[in-house]
Amino acid sequence: MSELLPDIRDDILEVLIDEETLQNKVAELAAQITRDYAGQDLLLVGALKGAAVFMVDLSLQIPLPLSMDFMAISSYGASTKSSGVVRILKDLDASIEERNVLIVEDIVDSGLTLSYLAEHLRARGPASLKICALLNKPSRRSSNVQVDYLGFDIPDKFVVGYGLDFAEKYRNLPFIGVLKPELYR
Ligand code: IMP
Ligand code: MG
Repeated sequence: MSELLPDIRDDILEVLIDEETLQNKVAELAAQITRDYAGQDLLLVGALKGAAVFMVDLSLQIPLPLSMDFMAISSYGASTKSSGVVRILKDLDASIEERNVLIVEDIVDSGLTLSYLAEHLRARGPASLKICALLNKPSRRSSNVQVDYLGFDIPDKFVVGYGLDFAEKYRNLPFIGVLKPELYR
């Protein structure tokens, strides 16, 4: 019977970053962050929904007394390309004034979303503001955004899994993969 169940893994053409490689990198980033923020007050700010899986995994490996908050943002317009004009769908619950803020993102593509978000949060007067991103597409960068903690540079391919979606699906894959092209239609 079980072979009749749909399996999202069947939609994947290629695994780009497997589960073990992901987990090793998350541990490495968490260790760096733990060293850098030891003895300081740290607030992780996740960009919903893509960064949720990564942020939870990352936080589980940072044994500091941190707090977490989330923002939901969306680019204006329905295109697959970022416009750089960002709408806040859900704001942070609390003030970030005088706090050490670490923005956690799933992927930096053009960088427009993240540079807007960083500028916006910087204006609220945090003690410090840094960025942690799991994935980066360097060939697509159009905006100047400095990522302080980076997981992987990847080629310019549309990827899903580990929080990243296509039409709200595939976020629950435990690895990063490329979808079969026939599914884009
Ligand atoms: P940017 O403003 O162009 O950097 O867009 C970044 C946002 O686009 C990310 O937070 C993702 O939500 C989305 N995105 C960019 N590339 C991909 C991808 O390959 N797969 C899934 N989502 C992506
Ligand atoms: Mg996103």
